[in-house]
Amino acid sequence: MPVHLTQHAVALDALVSLRDKTTKPGEFRQLARRISLVLALEATRQLTTTRVRVETPLETTDGDALRSDIVVVPVLRAGLGMVEAMLEVLPRARVGHIGLQRDERTAIASQYYSKLPHDLSQSLALIVDPMLATGGSAVSAIAMLQKAGARDIRLVCIVAAPEGIAAVEHAHPGVHIFTPVVDRELDAHKFILPGLGDFGDRLYGTV
Ligand code: PRP
Ligand code: URA
Repeated sequence: MPVHLTQHAVALDALVSLRDKTTKPGEFRQLARRISLVLALEATRQLTTTRVRVETPLETTDGDALRSDIVVVPVLRAGLGMVEAMLEVLPRARVGHIGLQRDERTAIASQYYSKLPHDLSQSLALIVDPMLATGGSAVSAIAMLQKAGARDIRLVCIVAAPEGIAAVEHAHPGVHIFTPVVDRELDAHKFILPGLGDFGDRLYGTV
């Protein structure tokens, strides 16, 4: 199963505070940024590099520069809480946006926005969406990117449920998932248990 568990101590420390129901939006945003930095490093650990020559102040030497064209794609709105950290690690990345909203009653996601960069066939597309619950949003986002030409797609999330992982694996077996944790299950309203509640609401104080 292409699931990469990022159990870095810094990520786990941020996660436990994100779960804490007393954490307020300001701190929640900082924690989301910190955990996303670790995830960004983990999801890009194996990127291909190319040999380059540089002049140091003292002499000429060779080094390795990132070769891949990278596209970061937040799923609105909660994914916005992860974008800045991704761009700090990947400053030359292009950014696409996908708007998906779960129906509160059925938990089925519907699309309301899409703006993706062109020429994705040679790009690494990193979808950032903190919560992988039923997997409906992720499966749709991946399909939208594939339709736009992307072939190398990775999903970066902060909490994943077994149901969501299974859905992504079933629909898009080639997509690798990066997450610090796989939680126990979904509740009757398709929220992740133990989870952290509604990520977007907690990020923006719309609870
Ligand atoms: C949340 C979350 C994911 C989705 C996960 O978004 O950010 O996109 O739910 O659930 P799923 O795996 O069952 O599809 P939500 O629809 O609540 O929108 P928001 O980010 O605007 O709050
Ligand atoms: N979306 C969230 O923000 N949290 C969940 O637990 C499930 C979907």
